[in-house]
Amino acid sequence: MACDFLVTGCRGRLGRDLVASFSADHSVRGVDLEEFDIRDRERTLEVIRKVGPGIVLHAAAYTDVDGCEGNRELAMGANADGAENVALACREVGARMVYYSTDYVFDGEADRPYTEGDQTDPQTVYGQSKLAGERAVKNVLDDYVILRIAWLYGRHGRNFVKTVIKLGFQQRHDLHGGREIAPLKVVDDQFGNPCWTMDIARQTRTVLSGQLTGLFHATSEGETSWYGFTQAIFAALDIDVVVEACTSDEFPRPAPRPRRSTMTNQRLNEAGLNVMPDWKTSLETFLHEHGKELVHEL
Ligand SMILES: NC(=O)c1ccc[n+]([C@@H]2O[C@H](COP(=O)([O-])OP(=O)(O)OC[C@H]3O[C@@H](n4cnc5c(N)ncnc54)[C@H](OP(=O)(O)O)[C@@H]3O)[C@@H](O)[C@H]2O)c1
Repeated sequence: MACDFLVTGCRGRLGRDLVASFSADHSVRGVDLEEFDIRDRERTLEVIRKVGPGIVLHAAAYTDVDGCEGNRELAMGANADGAENVALACREVGARMVYYSTDYVFDGEADRPYTEGDQTDPQTVYGQSKLAGERAVKNVLDDYVILRIAWLYGRHGRNFVKTVIKLGFQQRHDLHGGREIAPLKVVDDQFGNPCWTMDIARQTRTVLSGQLTGLFHATSEGETSWYGFTQAIFAALDIDVVVEACTSDEFPRPAPRPRRSTMTNQRLNEAGLNVMPDWKTSLETFLHEHGKELVHEL
C-alpha cells in the first residue's frame, strides 16, 4: 500500500525522530538493516516499489567514522552505492529523495564557516563515502534534497551528550564515595555545530513544504568545541563536574577529525526557510525535555 514517507535507517539516531515527527500527520513506513540491505540493488528496488512512497527520507548509513577508515568497501557500499540504489528506486517510482550528508565532506581547514559553494575535500573514508553518495543522488535524480548535517545528538542511540552525562555522573559518584577524581578531559581544538535530531526533522519538514531541491547546509546556528559543548551540557543540567580542555593529540583516532567543520545555512537563509535554532538554545530545550530520562537511564 502506498505511503507518504519511507524512512530508511528508521532505528538509527535520526531515523527514529524522523519517523516520530512525520508520523504525526502523514503515513510513514520505516525500514532498516533488518528488513533489507541498501547495498542490494534488486532488493532495494523491490521494497521501494512495493511500499510506493511519495518521499524517501534516506537516513540509513554506515556511520562509524573510525570503522569506515578500516573498511572502505563497506563504507562505499553502504554510503555511496546504497544511496545510488535508493535514488534509482526513487526515480523508478517517481518519489522525491532526501539524502542526509555530513560536515565531514570538508577538510576542516577553513577560517570561516563553510557554505554550500565551498570546495569539498574529505579527509576520511566516511567523508569520502558520503560525498560519493551525494554525487550519486545528484546524478540519478532531478528532484532531490541533500541536507548536510553535523554532530547529531538526541533521545535515541549512542551520542556525545549521553556519554558526557554518564562520565559526569561517574565523577560525582567517585567524589561522594571519597575516591580521588580525575578531571573529565575533552578536546577543545575541534569545532562544529551540535544538532538535535528533532531540529533536523523539523528542518526537513520545512524544506519539503517549500518544494526546494538541491544541496543545503542544515545545522544549528553558532559553533562550539567539544569542550564548550560539554560545559554547556553540565550548565544546563546544573551539575558540577570538573572538566579540563585538552588537544586532539591526547585522543588519537583512526580517522582524523576536521579541525573546524562549522557550516552555515546560506541557501536555507536565502530561501527564508532556515528554522535551525542556536545550538545552545536547542541543547537547553533538549535537556529540559529529556534530561531527567537520560539521567534515570544511566
Ligand atoms: N551521527 C552524526 O553525528 C551525523 C553527522 C552528520 C551526518 N550524519 C548522517 O545522518 C544520517 C543519520 O545518521 P545517524 O547518526 O542517525 O545514523 P545511525 O544512528 O548509525 O543509523 C543508521 C541506520 O542505518 C542502518 N544501516 C547501516 N548500514 C545499512 C545498510 N547497508 N542497509 C540498511 N541499513 C543500514 C544502521 O543499522 P545498524 O545500526 O544495524 O548498522 C542504522 O540503524 C546518516 O546519513 C549519517 O551519515 C550523521
